[in-house]
Amino acid sequence: MTTKSILCVGVGVPGLPEGWEVIQADTPTQARRHAQARPCAVGLLLVREADQCEALHAFLQDHWTMRWIAVLPPALLEQPAWRQLLRDHCDDYHTWPVDSQRLRHALGHALGMAALREDVLAPPASDATLTGHSAAITRLRRQIGKVAAASAPVLIWGESGSGKELAAQAVHAHSPRRKGPFVPINCGAIPAALIQSELFGHERGAFTGAARDKRGLIESAQGGSVFLDEIGDLPMELQANLLRFLQEKTIYRVGGTRSIAVDARVIAASHVNLEEAVRRGAFREDLYYRLNVLALEVPSLRERREDLLPLAEHFFRTYSSERAPRVKGFSSRAAQAIRDHDWPGNVRELINRVRRAMVMAEGRLILPRDLGLAPAAPGAGPLLLDDVRIRAERDAIDASLLRAGSNITLAARDLGVSRMTLYRLLAKHGITAPSRIGYTDGQSE
Ligand SMILES: Nc1ncnc2c1ncn2[C@@H]1O[C@H](COP(=O)(O)OP(=O)(O)OP(=O)(O)O)[C@@H](O)[C@H]1O
Ligand SMILES: [Mg+2]
Repeated sequence: MTTKSILCVGVGVPGLPEGWEVIQADTPTQARRHAQARPCAVGLLLVREADQCEALHAFLQDHWTMRWIAVLPPALLEQPAWRQLLRDHCDDYHTWPVDSQRLRHALGHALGMAALREDVLAPPASDATLTGHSAAITRLRRQIGKVAAASAPVLIWGESGSGKELAAQAVHAHSPRRKGPFVPINCGAIPAALIQSELFGHERGAFTGAARDKRGLIESAQGGSVFLDEIGDLPMELQANLLRFLQEKTIYRVGGTRSIAVDARVIAASHVNLEEAVRRGAFREDLYYRLNVLALEVPSLRERREDLLPLAEHFFRTYSSERAPRVKGFSSRAAQAIRDHDWPGNVRELINRVRRAMVMAEGRLILPRDLGLAPAAPGAGPLLLDDVRIRAERDAIDASLLRAGSNITLAARDLGVSRMTLYRLLAKHGITAPSRIGYTDGQSE
């Protein structure tokens, strides 16, 4: 049963009782792949060497919903970085040589506790789920559903950081190929000299250094989807090879003479206007038409402002393992600053600002300055007395909510008003808006 699956990272898994399934990963990179394909609730870290600390830390940050138990050499317990890793991420730890009986007990306990949180075992919704309820994102989700069922290539357009790759993952995840691999390739990031062999593979001896046959990325997407990101950066000569693959469903490895049939769906994305690139002669027109059979446009964040706060809160939860423990949510002024900002870097910018604020905030609630969205300094423009009054009222409310740990009863007492008055003021300043993480009403505690 899935509830008895344990993801083991590292070698030397001790004997476990029958009926417990071990998913073995030798390295954190392998573990990432396994965790994506087969979510588990419990993980076991088998640490032998001191030098894995950083890679494990990054891996565990991303898999913080799992319960982790570590086994490590006693000497590592003396090292601050390892002590921190255990404190931050692990429910329990043991030292080599491991006492199997005790370890089984700990794993059994972790599995039992994890079973109480069934949501963790649900398929990793976050991986291909587009958060948001705006009309624009709802339309995109609907289009993805339709496009996923077809088999023609998909071309995704959208500004930088708007969610093109996530949309591509969603197409794959909803398609009949979802059990096959999703292979992302950033055409702009692979050096020109390597890109042909990376994409199409090579035969032994094709060039100096080609010591053995190598499958290319397109071939490794057999049965699944290949995501060609920044397709506009694909060099002209490779555009011809890609066109042939789209037409004939076969590829030639570099230095190879036999054609290899590959059944992979192409999903391509670009943040530049490809039609324009075609006009400039930088992109083949025939390839453009081949790719552009099913087109999707990911809307910028500016076009879906209603999604801003739900997304900010979604990322607050997603990255909550990184936050300074005292930080509980967004202040109303931060929520307002988020609504007011133009987000040229789209969702990626929002993620970066939220993550930074979660670490940097000094109080319990994130302020605009923590997000790097502090309003213009006073004196920057003409000030009306009413504005000053409103701002002062709002600042006083925010400050007392902070002091009161967001407890409404305490904050009202602090401000010398009744709870009802404070609720009225919160409504007036939009503080009851969706961003309510952390507000508690002392009466109901
Ligand atoms: N609607 C959404 N809901 C949740 N997360 C999102 C959403 N849109 C984007 N993201 C997240 O925002 C980040 C940027 O998205 P993605 O990488 O898909 O954008 P992109 O358009 O491919 O960006 P770039 O142009 O920089 O390659 C990713 O971490 C992604 O998971
Ligand atoms: Mg991308």
